[in-house]
Amino acid sequence: MTPPSAPDPALLLAWYDRHRRVLPWRVTAGRPDPYRVWLSEVMLQQTTVAAVGPRYTRFLARFPDVQALAAAGWEEVAEEWAGLGYYARARNLHAGAKALAAQGFPETEEGLRAIPGIGPYTAAAVAAIAFGAPVVPADGNVERVAARVFRVETPLPAAKKQLASLAQGWMQAAAARARPGDFAQALFDLGATICTPRNPACALCPWREGCAAQAAGVQAELPRKTPKAARPTRHGTHFLLVDPAGQILVRRRPEKGLLGGMLEIPGTPWRAEAWVEAKALAHAPLPVPTWRRLAGEARHGFTHFELRMTLLAADLPAATELPGYAWMEAGAARAAMPSVMHRLLDLWDPG
Ligand code: ADE
Repeated sequence: MTPPSAPDPALLLAWYDRHRRVLPWRVTAGRPDPYRVWLSEVMLQQTTVAAVGPRYTRFLARFPDVQALAAAGWEEVAEEWAGLGYYARARNLHAGAKALAAQGFPETEEGLRAIPGIGPYTAAAVAAIAFGAPVVPADGNVERVAARVFRVETPLPAAKKQLASLAQGWMQAAAARARPGDFAQALFDLGATICTPRNPACALCPWREGCAAQAAGVQAELPRKTPKAARPTRHGTHFLLVDPAGQILVRRRPEKGLLGGMLEIPGTPWRAEAWVEAKALAHAPLPVPTWRRLAGEARHGFTHFELRMTLLAADLPAATELPGYAWMEAGAARAAMPSVMHRLLDLWDPG
């Protein structure tokens, strides 16, 4: 019987030494800065390597170390994160920075997990990459590689624990234990470039020998996935007030919940039933007699629902102060807003 840690981690590391991707958060000599590793891992959790690259560099230029991030106000962090999505990540990063600035970076997985906002995946990734701890962080790439190598037929997400523990088994090999950070990143690269979700390039794979899925010819079918329920639709009507200087009225969403702490164009709650205009108007920041409904509908896909929004706009003769709202120059507001609000603003000013 094949031991559960086959195939050989040394082969994967040798492949990584020749084929590793050059990425902005990777260093060629010595241990990387834990802050940079942490930032890259948080950004990479829901965002592609290609999209993260420039944003990672820009974030670091603005917040070069943990102290700078901890000292920043939430508004600045939110603005810098705008467009990257999954904003809880930015809140967790900011909360984590405050704790880390006060106590320093713990070097163990358990120590990292105790930091507010650092979850199990991030703790494992930072411990392995920045501190050489013998852990295998199981992201989607690693799960896919493990599901194929060991031919795990249990579908995701039920198989998550099993796949993580199989992946951790690779750390029994001395080669992996000698270079845990490289081993983790080698798995990420294998998953991203060879052991891809569709059409894996098995002919080029350093782990081809001993991959159970490849031997059985089922690699493209794994990992199996339990089908997701269809996403429900929700509806919202939003209100765009514009002053003669081109400022727009914005508000900040509550700290907790979806898009927590992000700027938005005021609107109705997002609900299953479509809004009739007369009812929606009760949620307008001001009673304005001259609303005009802009043509079209803005759509945005969230993880758990699909949002459809309509936009009512009105020009005001002056920017009146309203408690809970702020006036901002339209371009600056757009830059600080999440993508869902860009869809809405596109109805007003496409371009
Ligand atoms: N995905 C998650 N972490 C990564 C990393 N450090 N390099 C490349 N892809 C990744």
